[in-house]
Amino acid sequence: MCGIVGYVGPKSTVEVLLGGLKRLEYRGYDSAGVSVINGSGTLETRKRSGKLSVLVDDIEQNPLGVAHIGIGHTRWATHGAPTDGNAHPHLGGAHKKLSLIHNGIIENFAELKSELLEAGVTFTSETDTEVAAHLIAAEYDKTGDLISAFRRVVLRLHGAFTILVMHEDEPDVVLAARRNSPLVVGLGVGENFLGSDVAAFVEHTKRAISVGQDEIVILRSDRVELEDFAGNKVTHPEFQVDWDASAASKGGWSSFMAKEIADQPQAVGDTLMGRVASDGTVHLQELAPLGNAIHSIDRIIMVACGTAAYASEVGKYAIEAWARIPVSVELSHEFRYRDPILTSNTLVVAVSQSGETMDTLMATRYAKEAGAMVLSICNTQGATLAREADAVLYTHAGPEVAVASTKAFTAQITSIYLLALHLANTRSAHSKSELQEIGRELLKLPAQISEVLAGLDPIRELARSYKDAKTVLFLGRNVGFPIALEGALKLKELAYIHSEGFAAGELKHGPIALIEEGQPVIVIVPSVNDPDSLHAKVVSNIQEVLARGAKVIAIAEEGDKAVAQVTDQVCYVPAVHRMLAPILTVIPLQVFAMELSAAKGLDVDQPRNLAKSVTVE
Ligand code: AGP
Ligand code: GLU
Repeated sequence: MCGIVGYVGPKSTVEVLLGGLKRLEYRGYDSAGVSVINGSGTLETRKRSGKLSVLVDDIEQNPLGVAHIGIGHTRWATHGAPTDGNAHPHLGGAHKKLSLIHNGIIENFAELKSELLEAGVTFTSETDTEVAAHLIAAEYDKTGDLISAFRRVVLRLHGAFTILVMHEDEPDVVLAARRNSPLVVGLGVGENFLGSDVAAFVEHTKRAISVGQDEIVILRSDRVELEDFAGNKVTHPEFQVDWDASAASKGGWSSFMAKEIADQPQAVGDTLMGRVASDGTVHLQELAPLGNAIHSIDRIIMVACGTAAYASEVGKYAIEAWARIPVSVELSHEFRYRDPILTSNTLVVAVSQSGETMDTLMATRYAKEAGAMVLSICNTQGATLAREADAVLYTHAGPEVAVASTKAFTAQITSIYLLALHLANTRSAHSKSELQEIGRELLKLPAQISEVLAGLDPIRELARSYKDAKTVLFLGRNVGFPIALEGALKLKELAYIHSEGFAAGELKHGPIALIEEGQPVIVIVPSVNDPDSLHAKVVSNIQEVLARGAKVIAIAEEGDKAVAQVTDQVCYVPAVHRMLAPILTVIPLQVFAMELSAAKGLDVDQPRNLAKSVTVE
């Protein structure tokens, strides 16, 4: 799960590569490296452990030659520690003329390595990747044909890989292959690009092609050819990237996360745009590829990981309530290993910001093979998940760079609300006017998010005061429950504080034993007008933890007097339809985690041990 960039063209290659890596750094950030073939035809490689800035400083002090072809990599180590030696690119051949970068895991590397060791090859890293560099170099030495050498070797590799290769003796071509890891081509004029996603080159071109599974790209400055692993030519339609290059920059904010939290009115607004008419009717053109099958859906299974799974959990409440279709939410990595029951009337909804999460991709493939329909809800154009699903509903959150997901989460929930209303329109559980009423409520969300964002200073201050907390508990009920889980995940990943989210009703069944004097508990309080009186029940839960010494921070609806009577630490959000509240209540929790992380002096955008897209299983 690294970031990969490749370039052939007239621009300063080092600049193009470092610029691309900067925008891909969220994918992995334990080491980085580049290789270029300079004006005198020599391969130059520079790689350094640590963040990309270490490599950038190194190159600034000791520049690489002017070049018009090159490859770059930012790593998230799977095999071998994040050292200079294990950083990519890896060089192959006795004369080290071949340079290679890799995203993924070569599962049969041990076997291939023994073969190479027996043949007398010396390894300089502990990675699985290096075998591929030596194998291709050896094949090329035998035949003098780089493309066929490359093809022959990729056929021998098992597992997941996007591989880019360059050779000093073929200084005008970059070769790439992909199996189970992402790869997109950027098409320019007199220049062409390769990237793990479009962020790598969006600054230079908006024209892109998404590379298919088991395909090879032959990239030159004036042309791009694609073929399958057997050498047959393939073509794919070009698409237009609608991300703006400036959207992938911090634009004056202290961190990408701060910017992305602030982007949420727009992310939600853009996701709604063109999908809800002014009278509140929802119609999703994007579901057309599912045809009439949509009318016979008798069950929905949502597959996702992490934050996307919590968005799905919120969505489950909405789909069941509005469309009256049974929904289950499953972690992608659990789903396919338990022999789930799928039929042609099952709609599997795969939710993923990146569209490259390997667990979710594998779950999707499994579901398709079992005959289910697959809809993906995805934020990244040209992503593998979007390609492979039967239909795709894009969230229009724009590029999300911070590792912790924020605007993609609220955009995902928004998309699932839209899906729920669209499906509800095809059934008769609710009147058209009731559904339109909810649609009109959705349209108010961007302004309501802005209101929440404007009143967050008290929560920032509170967060700083909890800097030394050892454990923070989160409670929620109904749609507030997944928000409690999301609040806890944000705090774990950003501030490295142990945190747990519980269903408030579950408290008395065990978790209440954790409460002791001073224990911080954050409670997402349901609407005062909740038809099931959940509000009163959650206020009772607050009393129960207060009685045992907890310190309670409540996230409650404006005008909730009952909460103000039990705790003075209340963050108010505007009153909305009960089902839509998660879009607002999550925001103070995002900010709480971000502020606490910053107060501890941690890297908000790039928390330790994580990477943005988890492209290995
Ligand atoms: C969110 O803050 C996490 N970093 C993580 O849980 C993420 O949501 C998960 O890995 C799923 O990613 P995806 O949406 O790109 O599939
Ligand atoms: N498996 C390779 C390594 O550990 C590539 C990891 C990545 O995708 O960054 O170096």
